[in-house]
Amino acid sequence: MSIQTNLTNTNLIFPTTFHEDNRVTLFDGDCEVFLNSLPPNSLQLVVTSPPYNVGKEYETNIPFDEYIEWQDRIIGLCIEKLKDQGSICWQVGNYIDRKNKNEVFPLDIYLYNSFKSRGLQLRNRIIWHFGHGLHANSRFSGRYETILWFTKTDDYVFNLDPVRVPQKYPGKKAYKGEKAGQYSSNPLGKNPSDVWEIPNVKSNHIEKTEHPCQFPISLVNRLITSMSNENDLVFDPFMGVGTTLAASAINNRRSAGCEIHRPYLDIAATRVKKALNNELSFRDDKPVYEPPVGSGLTQNPFTIEQ
Ligand SMILES: C[S@@+](CC[C@H](N)C(=O)[O-])C[C@H]1O[C@@H](n2cnc3c(N)ncnc32)[C@H](O)[C@@H]1O
Repeated sequence: MSIQTNLTNTNLIFPTTFHEDNRVTLFDGDCEVFLNSLPPNSLQLVVTSPPYNVGKEYETNIPFDEYIEWQDRIIGLCIEKLKDQGSICWQVGNYIDRKNKNEVFPLDIYLYNSFKSRGLQLRNRIIWHFGHGLHANSRFSGRYETILWFTKTDDYVFNLDPVRVPQKYPGKKAYKGEKAGQYSSNPLGKNPSDVWEIPNVKSNHIEKTEHPCQFPISLVNRLITSMSNENDLVFDPFMGVGTTLAASAINNRRSAGCEIHRPYLDIAATRVKKALNNELSFRDDKPVYEPPVGSGLTQNPFTIEQ
């Protein structure tokens, strides 16, 4: 695989049209156009956070039902281009109707049927919990969003070991029965569960760019390493500053992404290039187990002092 450099007069260093040998493809434009150009069975994993139609600087607000129809069309195209062993992770929060009493519409509930009606199967509705956000006065402040993880079939890629987190008591052993003396929990760590505590990217975050809503790399790392294998193709139709593609590069996956706002695309290109060269700084939010002094356990959660 090679990084192609077929563009001139731009900051981009990556091809903008898809070819399966591209290590990275950055499409400068509408994801619907790009998706229509892809062959079927191309994508192993789609990870994205679409616009929520809430008036962010990159959004043009449209009536809510038109927004849902548009999302439904993009989801339909992603499914059409997904491999049978593939997964889609659609990360969303709430649409707030500011013109009508600030009513809250949870987007995952509205979009669930776009997947289900096309035969996909829900594996998890992951709660992404974070500590910072707007303070509400007329309701409780929102501190989580969700990731709908759907698979195309029941024969899907799922690698649990790379995403295990430290056990609460990693050195715990069975004290009776035929397993007495053996570790009573998996020494590689435990399943991270479907509630993920990962800081969102606010002003002091090491990964912060000028994009108002970027993914933290560690969130995407977890999805990519568990739901794809090396060299698989990971796609983000709404890539913003390219976090999904940067995480793909870090984890030796091929990637493609689309963005209609050119300044974000340029930042994405820079970040992906750094990631490919192992030069991109990111916050690794994997929890670190720190055993109490004198407990007999080392700082490495998976090794036990003799
Ligand atoms: C929520 S942001 C995604 C941020 C991204 N997860 C990241 O980490 O940077 C959604 C992005 O979709 C882009 N966008 C909106 N409509 C689009 C379209 N039709 N095709 C491609 N990108 C689009 C917006 O400009 C915005 O940057």
